Amino acid sequence: MVFIALEITVAFSERLTGVRSLNRPRRAIEWGPDIAGPFCAKRAPRCCPDRLDECSVPILDTLCYCDDFCDRERSDCCPDFQSVCRRRPSPPPPIRAPCEYNGRYYRQNEQVKINCNLCRCVRDITSTNGYSFQCGNNVCLIQEDVIDTVNKYPNKYGWQASNYSQFWGLTLEEGRRYRLGTNKPDEPVINMSNIEVLNDKSLPREFDSRKKWPGWVHGVRDQGNCAASWAFSTTALAADRLSIESRGAMVLDLSPQNLLSCSDNNQGGCLGGNLDSAWWFLRHRGVTTEACYPYTSGVNGKNGTCLARDLQRDRWCPAGRQTRDKLIYEATPPYKISSSVKDIMAEIEMNGPVQATFRVQDDFFMYRSGVYKYSRTGSVSAFQEDDRMLYHSVRIIGWGEEVISQRLVRYWLCANSWGTAWGEGGYFRIVRGSNECEIESFVLGVWGKVEADTVLRELLNVFRAERLQARTELERSRGRRHLRRHRRRQNKRKKQKS
Ligand SMILES: *[C@@H]1O[C@H](CO)[C@@H](O)[C@H](O)[C@H]1NC(C)=O
Ligand SMILES: *[C@@H]1O[C@H](CO)[C@@H](O)[C@H](O)[C@H]1NC(C)=O
Ligand SMILES: *[C@@H]1O[C@H](CO)[C@@H](O)[C@H](O)[C@H]1NC(C)=O
Repeated sequence: MVFIALEITVAFSERLTGVRSLNRPRRAIEWGPDIAGPFCAKRAPRCCPDRLDECSVPILDTLCYCDDFCDRERSDCCPDFQSVCRRRPSPPPPIRAPCEYNGRYYRQNEQVKINCNLCRCVRDITSTNGYSFQCGNNVCLIQEDVIDTVNKYPNKYGWQASNYSQFWGLTLEEGRRYRLGTNKPDEPVINMSNIEVLNDKSLPREFDSRKKWPGWVHGVRDQGNCAASWAFSTTALAADRLSIESRGAMVLDLSPQNLLSCSDNNQGGCLGGNLDSAWWFLRHRGVTTEACYPYTSGVNGKNGTCLARDLQRDRWCPAGRQTRDKLIYEATPPYKISSSVKDIMAEIEMNGPVQATFRVQDDFFMYRSGVYKYSRTGSVSAFQEDDRMLYHSVRIIGWGEEVISQRLVRYWLCANSWGTAWGEGGYFRIVRGSNECEIESFVLGVWGKVEADTVLRELLNVFRAERLQARTELERSRGRRHLRRHRRRQNKRKKQKS
């Protein structure tokens, strides 16, 4: 600072006296690369011959020069002196990788995976810095433009979308391959005759089977990376119906792994399955409980070999437990309910949740909340669609209605099998009454096989457990009374002593 002040003083006195000292040393300065011009380029007329101290430009808090003299000393020329005054090419700018993603820079030809595509940093004359990423053309399971559009117009679409980290990085095709898994039923199966639902009753505007049968309707599970919705919706429905029909005597989680690994007749395991074969298995073989045969396919994506060929005889659970309890639970043949909204509602209200199969569109994976309806905002996928692979099965557990921007929107309340972090705590609502995504096309109900002696035995167990609990409580309260009496006596004794 002192030095600069001195220099300015000298320049000032020089101008006053009109005397030029050719030998006056100028300060030796190294300009850093970060103060690259324009300096001399801004002067008009630009550069000066010989030595002319006025031929300068402010730089930082001092001056730099654009006269020939500065060149001789190679000390205080402006950073752009060489390129502007000598017309020499300026040194190349510091090398900085030209492509940026998530705060990291990538050199030319360097690759990075962005969502579900591998991208390479390439020259691109249309971009501002001459480079951009060129990416593969997979349609991703998470499509950011779909999320943006759907969330921007909540009144138009009626639902909100979200970026799920468990889906980020997967292609749409992978999502379909690993997260769905119910084959579209064949025509003869679809053409099964409907049962007659007696529905002369008026139905409520809203219904949630969890409220009518608290504790008896099973929660949401996660099929993981295994396309086994066929096994999840089937075991969950059978379990719901068993607990409702037995009036809570048989509240059990049934094992989808048992069905997945052992129902190998015309089934694809983690590659998807048929509901008619799944129900055949539940009718003729039955499945055990989740505790006895826990789910493992979600983690490794493998079908698993069947560990329950003769569970009932062996009385041994794959989980490693030996037991004398009833191990196998069965169902009667399923029945088809007509596609009439009223019939489906009446069936749910009377008998409990139903199983529904629907076609999953690309935006459904991103559903977060609200009443879902296919938005048609995604890119139409480029690959050949295998029609059978696009179906998924869930339970419909109730219905309701909601006003969205002055329109009354009716919906089904459904339980998915993608874990509780997806959708509305694992559930979703979908437009009711217009066969949205074919959700009303193929709806099944079933009776659990509830044998009178089983119910009696289960009720007896419940009764015993309750009696045991009552007795324990009684003993505990007796114990407390005893303790109080004992304390009182002790206190009395103390008082007498003092
Ligand atoms: C979506 O989530 C992934 C992983 O959690 C994250 O890397 C990505 O930046 C997110 N995208 C947006 C648009 O928020
Ligand atoms: C199923 O029903 C549809 C419509 O009623 C009919 O056109 C079709 O031929 C039936 N298919 C079979 C296999 O019965
Ligand atoms: C699962 O079973 C299906 C049908 O049997 C088979 O096509 C598929 O390859 C199996 N998957 C694995 C990972 O073993």
